Amino acid sequence: MEQSKDMVNITVLVSGGGSNLQSIMDHIENGYLDKARIAQVISSNPDAYALERAEKSGIPGISITKAQWPEEKERQRIILEKVQAVDTDLIVLAGYMSILGQELIETYRNRMINIHPSLIPKYCGKGFYGKHVHRAVLEGGEPESGATVHFVDEGIDTGKIILQEKVAVEPEDTADTLAARVLTVEHRILPHAIKLFCDGKLGTK
Ligand code: GRF
Repeated sequence: MEQSKDMVNITVLVSGGGSNLQSIMDHIENGYLDKARIAQVISSNPDAYALERAEKSGIPGISITKAQWPEEKERQRIILEKVQAVDTDLIVLAGYMSILGQELIETYRNRMINIHPSLIPKYCGKGFYGKHVHRAVLEGGEPESGATVHFVDEGIDTGKIILQEKVAVEPEDTADTLAARVLTVEHRILPHAIKLFCDGKLGTK
C-alpha cells in the first residue's frame, strides 16, 4: 500500500455489514480515490461483517466495544488514541451505531463525516437508524427518500450537510427494498464526499 504525505489517511468506523466500507475500498482499488488509504477499521461490534471485509483486503481492523470498556470515558479515550495512532486525517462513520466523545469530535471537527440513509433534516436524530428510518419514511407516505453525507458535530445527524441524493419511494416498497435502493446511493455519495475531502474541497485536511 502506498504511503506518502500526499495520501489522506482514513479511519473508518463501523458496526455492521460494512457495504459502505466495501464501497470505499472498491473506489480506492479502482483508482477513483487515488489519494485515499484506509489506515484502519474500528468496529463497535466484534462480530461485524465489516471486520471480515477489512481483513480480506489486508486492512487492520479492531473492535472497541462497550463490553470491553464499559466505562464511557475510558472507551472514548481508547478510540481517540487508536485514531491518532495511525495519523488519521479523516474519520468516516460508515454505519457506526455508537455515540462518540466530545474530545474526538473537537479534534476532528470538519474532518469526520457520516452517512445517513435519509434526506436530513427528515427522519434523522435519536431513534432514526437502520430499518427504523425506512419504516418511518414509508409510514410518513413520503414520495421520495435518499441519503445524506454530513460532517459530525455534537448532535445526532445535525452537522453541516456535504452531499445529498434522492431516490423515489415506490408504492410497493418495503423497508428492505427502500433500504436497498438508498444503499446504492450511499455507495456513490460517500466515496464522492471522500474525494472532495482528498481534493481539499471540504474543510481542512
Ligand atoms: C447504512 O444505511 C448507513 O447509512 C447507516 O447504516 C447502514 C450501514 O450499512 N448508518 P453498511 O454497514 O455500510 O452496509
